[in-house]
Amino acid sequence: MTTTTAPRPVEPAADIDNQESTRRDVRPLPELLCQRYQIERLLGVGGMAAVYKAKDLLREGYGDPEPFVAIKALNDYFAQFPDANALLFSEFALTSRLHHGHIIQLHGFDVDTDSERAFIILEPLRGPTLDQLLVERPTGTDWESLRELVVPLLDALAYAHQHGVIHGDIKPSNVMLAEQGVRLFDFGLGQPMEGLLPGLPRLSRQRIAAWTPRYAALELLNGEALTAAADIYAIACVIYELSSGHHPFSRLTAKQAKAMQQDQTLERPALLPPHCWPALREALAFDPTDRQITAAELRNSFAASPPKLLQRLLRPGKQRRHASA
Ligand SMILES: Nc1ncnc2c1ncn2[C@@H]1O[C@H](COP(=O)(O)OP(=O)(O)OP(=O)(O)O)[C@@H](O)[C@H]1O
Ligand SMILES: [Mg+2]
Repeated sequence: MTTTTAPRPVEPAADIDNQESTRRDVRPLPELLCQRYQIERLLGVGGMAAVYKAKDLLREGYGDPEPFVAIKALNDYFAQFPDANALLFSEFALTSRLHHGHIIQLHGFDVDTDSERAFIILEPLRGPTLDQLLVERPTGTDWESLRELVVPLLDALAYAHQHGVIHGDIKPSNVMLAEQGVRLFDFGLGQPMEGLLPGLPRLSRQRIAAWTPRYAALELLNGEALTAAADIYAIACVIYELSSGHHPFSRLTAKQAKAMQQDQTLERPALLPPHCWPALREALAFDPTDRQITAAELRNSFAASPPKLLQRLLRPGKQRRHASA
């Protein structure tokens, strides 16, 4: 981990949500950060931040043949807010306590002294995000490929929850099928569960309107607090979408879909084995009291094999023959 060279004062937790968002002048992100990280190219952009490939000159100087890292910095809009650096620090603090093979690894948090821009140093990943994968698979993902994606992803989420971290923004563009395997990343809107990391600022989703409403659980849209159950709704939408090729509620928000009683007509995706459906169906419940399933339980239902006869029927060739019989 790197050390923080120029820490900006983090606003007290109680103030950050109510803070008057007086913007500050933002200097452009320099190409050389902290005299150490040389930005080479853009890897991706999200609603709040951009991620760059950068060369770690220190590591290069010591002969590291692969001195590359990924650098995440807030975009110029979000960097204007006085608590912007605290926002990025929150992502760092949450993610750096997680050590799991399917969760992105962080190397550090730092602030460039001259520009006062904060950034996170991450493992660089290569591969499509799930939203890119969805474009390639408009009719859904077959069971075996789905399982290879979903079991590690649910493992990662179950681990985060067991360690007191709520992701807060699960959606296809925050999961990568990297060369190294599935990676859950972007805990930028994450929160610690009650009692954990007490000094960490709790960031307001109302004020930071960078999340995607179609993966947001009903209670979040109604202004209630973020809980692990909201991650369950979001991940269930992603799993349904991967399996069927389309969002479970026609890309509507949970609020709109509930008003249209879309849950009454929700059907099991054809490629999903029936033994997974009760668990996924529960995870998609609008009302959080009907959504009691944990990430570990959902994982177990996807890790289990379907009965042998069903497995044969689910193979695409067999399925077509069966349908036309
Ligand atoms: N470690 C990494 N290596 C390579 N590319 C990455 C890495 N982290 C993120 N990216 C790419 O950058 C994009 C934006 O990253 P990230 O999701 O962290 O930003 P964000 O602005 O917080 O996103 P959001 O819109 O979800 O708020 C990702 O969708 C992905 O394509
Ligand atoms: Mg993102």
